[in-house]
Amino acid sequence: MFTIENLNGEYVGGVNLNSIDEKNGTFSIGVQVDRDHRGKGYGTRAINILLKYAFLELRLNKFNECTLEGNEPSAAMLRKVGCVQEGVRRKVIYTNGQYLDLLLFGLTKDEFMEKNTMK
Ligand SMILES: CC(C)(COP(=O)(O)OP(=O)(O)OC[C@H]1O[C@@H](n2cnc3c(N)ncnc32)[C@H](O)[C@@H]1OP(=O)(O)O)[C@@H](O)C(=O)NCCC(=O)NCCS
Repeated sequence: MFTIENLNGEYVGGVNLNSIDEKNGTFSIGVQVDRDHRGKGYGTRAINILLKYAFLELRLNKFNECTLEGNEPSAAMLRKVGCVQEGVRRKVIYTNGQYLDLLLFGLTKDEFMEKNTMK
């Protein structure tokens, strides 16, 4: 788990690399930004830094992430870093009296390099 700080050194959230599968080169990233600091670009910046670390330093190959239907900030952030929606796992989370879908997102190393012109 890494801390996300603003330029004043204040804690604004956390980000972590998880579910690393070294054989297949896959991984996930969990990110959370405190409510008071959302919408200022911290989530996108943090996830981009960890993507760069995972693809270039750890030499992993595929980022997989999922988000609950209706979590627009999360889906927007994933799209913003270059992820594409790969599918929907239907009605797998029960919360607040209803079953919700999980939206599956992914990004390959090649796509990340292309987007960030690192080729
Ligand atoms: C998802 C989350 C990490 C985004 O962090 P953030 O720092 O607010 O995100 P950013 O400021 O980088 O915004 C990224 C994009 O999300 C979108 N966005 C941000 N807040 C939004 C909102 N309230 N509604 C809709 N879209 C929103 C914008 O399109 C934004 O792009 P833009 O700056 O070009 O407009 C944050 O909302 C959060 O911690 N949510 C709770 C935990 C969570 O859902 N984690 C993700 C699990 S995959």
